[in-house]
Order: sequence, then structure tokens, then C-alpha cells
Amino acid sequence: MKIKELVVIIDFGGQYTHLIARRVRQLNVYSEIVPYDRADVETIKRMNPKGIILSGGPRSVYLSNSPKVDRCIFSLGVPILGICYGHQLIAYMFGGKVIKSKGEYGRAILKIYDKDDLFQGLDDREVVWMSHRDSVIEVPKGFKVLASTEVTPIAAFKSEVLPIYGIQFHPEVIHTPKGLRILSNFLFKVCKCKPTWKPADLVPQLIEEIKKKVKPDERVLCAVSGGVDSTTTAVLVHKAIGDRLVAVFVDHGLLRKGEPEFVVNTLRRLGLNLIHVDARKRFLDKLKGVSDPEEKRKIIGNEFIRVFEEVAKKIPNLRWLAQGTIYPDVIESGRIGAGSARIKSHHNVGGLPKSMKLKLLEPLRYFYKDEVREIARSLGLPDEIVKRHPFPGPGLAVRIIGEVNEEKLRIVREASAIVEEELKEAGLYDKVWQAFAVVGDDKWVGVVGDERKVGYIVIVRIVESIDAMTADWVRIPYNILDKISRRITSELENVTMVTYAITSKPPSTIEPC
Ligand code: XMP
Repeated sequence: MKIKELVVIIDFGGQYTHLIARRVRQLNVYSEIVPYDRADVETIKRMNPKGIILSGGPRSVYLSNSPKVDRCIFSLGVPILGICYGHQLIAYMFGGKVIKSKGEYGRAILKIYDKDDLFQGLDDREVVWMSHRDSVIEVPKGFKVLASTEVTPIAAFKSEVLPIYGIQFHPEVIHTPKGLRILSNFLFKVCKCKPTWKPADLVPQLIEEIKKKVKPDERVLCAVSGGVDSTTTAVLVHKAIGDRLVAVFVDHGLLRKGEPEFVVNTLRRLGLNLIHVDARKRFLDKLKGVSDPEEKRKIIGNEFIRVFEEVAKKIPNLRWLAQGTIYPDVIESGRIGAGSARIKSHHNVGGLPKSMKLKLLEPLRYFYKDEVREIARSLGLPDEIVKRHPFPGPGLAVRIIGEVNEEKLRIVREASAIVEEELKEAGLYDKVWQAFAVVGDDKWVGVVGDERKVGYIVIVRIVESIDAMTADWVRIPYNILDKISRRITSELENVTMVTYAITSKPPSTIEPC
């Protein structure tokens, strides 16, 4: 992808690195994350950034094995902003002093002494968010202190000769109310960027690139689930090569209420060359008697591969696989970032066996979810797809605790539909990240009329999140929860209790399995 102006974020493993990248893009400047161990000066020069941001990170700069940055990047003349660990690293590498201090966590008042550039337009005192144990206690020669807090005397500095800045606090989190202004000062006043980045503007370029890659006689396979990522991918590829794109929709029997019909109709309306595989029976047969979450995921993943192999064999000249991989997936899977521990073996429909030797097309691999939504809108995808909540590849199987069977499937499918309907009715559906029902094997004794009745427990889970890496449960008004509960127990056979899941991620995860 050719980008006119970009800011590079060098990642030292900080939990907010993605957030920094998103904030920069929010300010209409394209940003890319590069892990510190791949940020050699040649790579950075090739990327030709207008600015560089050094992220936070969990280590201590003064330890010999802590991540450092190629010293040569300081001589490129490109403006640099260090945040938290990045701030300490600049101080340390230029000869300042960083020590383990008593640390500062949470809200702090920043006293600002210099408002020439980074802090232009701010008040003398501003609220900022701190999260550090180490502190800079001496700035390097030629550096000047710009701000402090009660606990941290050197909360911001700048070099008096080079365009290099450090801030100990986190401007990217919402708890720093003027954080976006500080970042925008860095981008527009210091780096002289222009706020021109808009994901949808890149659509013609994305289409052109697909055209160039796929030869005129080659075909592309794309697994579509009806989610925004895979549908946008398929539409982009279709715009580039027409019916040489074969879209495959597999109904594994674990989809939401009305979903197969909706997806097939929508994709056909969008003009895609679609193969609809009804594989319900084979998936459900394979899942019989299996209750271990990872085992269920493995079975579904393998069966997907088998179904795709069968379809692929019948497509002549198939050379490519198009996947709706998005930026966080790329970073998380360690393909450009330092990989993190896998909590669940997530799979996306489309993981095909290597033996098929298909080349990968991933036109959305540099975009965040909200940017994909913008692209989708600009391609004319309907709102029902654009605003759809993410839905896991293994479908309702990860929302059924224990064995998947017809009865639990019916309960989870109907109850989820009620949750979605009530949120839509209340105008809340678009405001939350995901909302669904879960069912397990535990039973609750109920009373129906004068009869004792033992029924299932349905757990309602409604979360807000930015990128699913962390999430919080949504404080839904009681009257809506009440309506959801009443409808579930009255409309569904064999449900005698509805509960609401009130644990954030971490320590929990969003899906139960
Ligand atoms: P967890 O449960 O790990 O989920 O907090 C984080 C996000 O990922 C979705 N999810 C999946 N998505 N394939 C997917 O494409 C999967 O196997 C999968 N498992 C979980 C989940 O819905 C949430 O948005």
C-alpha cells in the first residue's frame, strides 16, 4: 500500500501501543506499528516516516537485556516522541538518569512550564494518566524539563537541539482528557503532518493492487461468514476481478437465528459468485459427545478445512485465498509483532491447509475494525453488515458450555435473538461491542403454574470494547434486563433462570469457551 505520509510507532510491548496507533489514525494521519527488534534504521528510513513514536513497555531501560532502539534513528532528523518507556529510553540513551522509583499510577496533575509546541493550547495544569514504576530523575545534557507532577519531577522533556520529546504519562488513554490535543500538537506542529488519511480513499488503490497480483487466468477463493471483514474483503476482490472470485459460505449449523438466509441473500444481492455449503449435519455429528472447549474448536477448525478442500478441488485454476485479516490479527499473530500468549485457539473461517499452496490476499491487513467499517460503507455494503457485531468462527459452539446438542443450540440461538432484538429496540445495539446469550448444563429449579420445573440457566453477556483485547460488561438499564429475562423464560421451553455476566476481560474472556 502506498501511503504519502506516515508515522511509525516503535513497539516495546506496551499494552497501549494499538491505542496510540489508533489515536494517530483518528487524527487522520496513517500510522504503522513496528516491533523494536525490527526497527533498524534501514527499515525506518525505507518507511520514510514524518514522525516516530516510541511506545510504552513493561521493562526497565537500565537493565542490560531490556529492549532498546537503534541509536541511529535519533540522527535521522525525524521528530520523535517517547511515551512512558519510550520517554525513559530516550533519557537513558542520551545519558540521563532513570531509576526505580515509588511509581505513580492513575490520575495525576501535570504542571506545565513550557507551551511552545507539545503543550500548545493547554492550561498550566492538566489531568494526565500515569502508569509507571521507573522515573527519569535527570534529563540528559541539552534537554529541558517541560512539565512535572507532584510525584514525577520530570514528566515531560524535550531536546534543545533535536526534535525529540518525552512524556511519562499516557496521552492515548481517555483518562488524559487533553491527550489527543498533545498528540495532535506532535503530529501537526512538530512533525508537520497533514490530516489527510482516510481509509475509504484507499479503495481504488486496494482494488488496483488485487488486479495487479491476480493474473487474468487465476481464480481466488474467499470464505465469507457475513461478518464485516470477510464481506468487505470479498467485495473488494470482486470489484477487482469479478466472478473469478469464488465466495464460499459454509453453514456449520452453529449460526445465529436467520443468519444463513440473511448472509446468502445479502451476498447474492451484492453480486458475488457464491457457493453455499450446507454442512450442518457433518459438523454437529463431529461435535457429538465433545465438551472440552479447545477440542470443540479444533474439531470445527479441521472440519472447515475439509469442507474448503472439497470445494477448492472443484475450482479450476484456483491460486489465491482471500482472507479478511485485519490489523490487530496481524500484530497479535506475531506476523509483524512480538507474539503474545494465545488464550484460545481462535480461528477464522478460511484457515486453509498449507498443502493447497494458495497465495494469500489480505487487502484489509493494515486496517482497524472501525476503518474496515468505513471502507465497507464506501463500497455500499448494507448497514446490517457494516454494524454487525463480531461473531466467532466456531459460532454458537463457543457460547454453549459443555456438549453441543440440538436443545442447547435452540436455547442459545433463540435467547441471543431476544437479546439482540431488545438492544435494537432500546437503541443500544450499535453502542455495544457484542451482546449474546450463553447456555451450559447446570439446571435451576423453577415453578411454572403450580408445577415444579427444572430448566436451563441462560447467561446474558453484553460487553463494550475497542478491539476485544480488553472488555467491560455494559451497565444495561434494569428495565431492559428485566424484559430480556422475562422474554427468555416465557418464550423458551426449559429455561428457568436468566443471569447477567458482570466480569470484565481480563480476568474473564468475552466468550465462555
Ligand atoms: P475472547 O473470548 O477471547 O474473544 O475474549 C475475543 C474476541 O474474539 C472473538 N472470537 C473469535 N473470533 N474466531 C473468531 O473469528 C474464533 O475462534 C473466536 N473466538 C473468539 C470473540 O467473539 C471476541 O470478539
